[in-house]
Amino acid sequence: MSAIIEQLNQEHANMSRILDLLEHEIDAFGNGEVADFHLVQEIMDYCLDYPEACHHPKEDAIYAVMIDRRPNLADEIADLSGAHAKLGRQTQGAHGTVERIMRDETLARDLVLDVFGTFLDSYRLHIKLEEENFFPEAARLLNDADWARVAQTLADRPNPLLIDAGDGRFATLRQGILHMPGFSAALG
Ligand SMILES: [Fe+2]
Ligand SMILES: [Fe+2]
Repeated sequence: MSAIIEQLNQEHANMSRILDLLEHEIDAFGNGEVADFHLVQEIMDYCLDYPEACHHPKEDAIYAVMIDRRPNLADEIADLSGAHAKLGRQTQGAHGTVERIMRDETLARDLVLDVFGTFLDSYRLHIKLEEENFFPEAARLLNDADWARVAQTLADRPNPLLIDAGDGRFATLRQGILHMPGFSAALG
């Protein structure tokens, strides 16, 4: 398997743990318990950061080569790239919602549950679709030269969740997640 696909799979696994952590807090809120919205805010800050800046662009670079190889995949891949844009808007929406909560604005419980429920469902469905359909297809279609070209065009940078810059960014999330089963600090 290409090292890039391996990294994307690892990023999905880590993202799934983060989504589980988010769901745990949103469920607590839905049940009238005390939820850790500071953690929710860090999660949403993170979702706006690395996945939007690095993970989805890496995938888009691969999907562009796939269309080159198989033009008949263009429609399906356009849907997938559209899903990245939609996920970006949902991420902004959920981020804005937690910002309002942290500013002590009063929001209807159902609205908060709806925003985060939709965000969680879309993210999980997107990850499943890519892992089940598109990553295996990419592994079949791209050759070594393609992977080298994709790697060259990537504006990659370290995942800020895995590198503690000492500025306190993502400290709560890092603490919450590092010991979760299935989370890897080794890659992506
Ligand atoms: Fe994606
Ligand atoms: Fe992905």
